[in-house]
Amino acid sequence: MIIAIDGPAASGKSTLARALARRLGLTFLDTGAMYRAVTLAALERNLSPAEGAECAALAATLRLGFDPEGRVLIEGEAGEPAIRSGEVTRHVSEVAAHSGVRRALVEAQRAVAAAAVEAGGGVVAEGRDTTSVVFPEADLKVFLLASPAVRAMRRAAEEGRPELASAYEADLARRDAHDSQRADSPLLEVEDAVRLDTDTLSPEAVLDRAAALAAARRP
Ligand code: CDP
Repeated sequence: MIIAIDGPAASGKSTLARALARRLGLTFLDTGAMYRAVTLAALERNLSPAEGAECAALAATLRLGFDPEGRVLIEGEAGEPAIRSGEVTRHVSEVAAHSGVRRALVEAQRAVAAAAVEAGGGVVAEGRDTTSVVFPEADLKVFLLASPAVRAMRRAAEEGRPELASAYEADLARRDAHDSQRADSPLLEVEDAVRLDTDTLSPEAVLDRAAALAAARRP
C-alpha cells in the first residue's frame, strides 16, 4: 500500500506520516530529509545552491539511505541533526527547485516504495509533490493544512524556542512561496487528496482520521 501525505511547510506531515507508518506497519519515507541531505552535502562541498547541474550531479551520486526509524543516512552516516540546521533550511528550497535534483530523488523515492511493496508492505511518504508527482497512483492521498501562525508556533515549540515563532512565520511563508511558484513540481493540492485541517485537530485526531481512511482503502 502507498500513502502520500502532502502539504506546506510545518503542516504536520512528518508527525502524521511517522505515526501512521508505525500504526499500519509500513515504511516511513521522509522525502524532505532527502532534499535536506543533498543541500547539506552541497554546502559541505562548497557547491552553490544556485548551481543546478552541480547539485543534480551530487544528487545522482550521493548514497542516501534510511535507518530502521526512517532517519536519513548520507553515505552511511546519520544526517540528523545537521540536515535541520538553519543554514540547510535557508537553502533547501533553492536546491529542491532544480529539475535534475528532483529527477534523481524521485527515482530513489520510487525505488524505496517498490522495494517495500515487493516485500509485502508499503510506504507512508511525506513531502510536497508526493501526491502530485512521486506517487500519483497512491492508494490514499492526504493534504494537510494549517494556518501560518499555527505552523510557525508548532515549529518553534518543537525546537524549544517559542519566542522565535514570528521569525519562523516569515521563513515558512518564504519557503511556501518558493515551493508553490517553482516551475518543476510546485506544491499543489491535487483533486483526489483528502484535505485535513490540523488547526482544530490534535495530532491524535489527525492520525485517527488518516488511519480510518487508510483502513477503508487498503487493497
Ligand atoms: O518539514 P519542513 O516543511 O520544514 O520541510 P521538509 O519536509 O524537511 O522539506 C524541506 C524543503 O525540501 C521544502 O521546503 C521543499 O523546498 C523541499 N521538498 C521538496 O521540494 N519536495 C519534497 N517532496 C519534499 C521537500
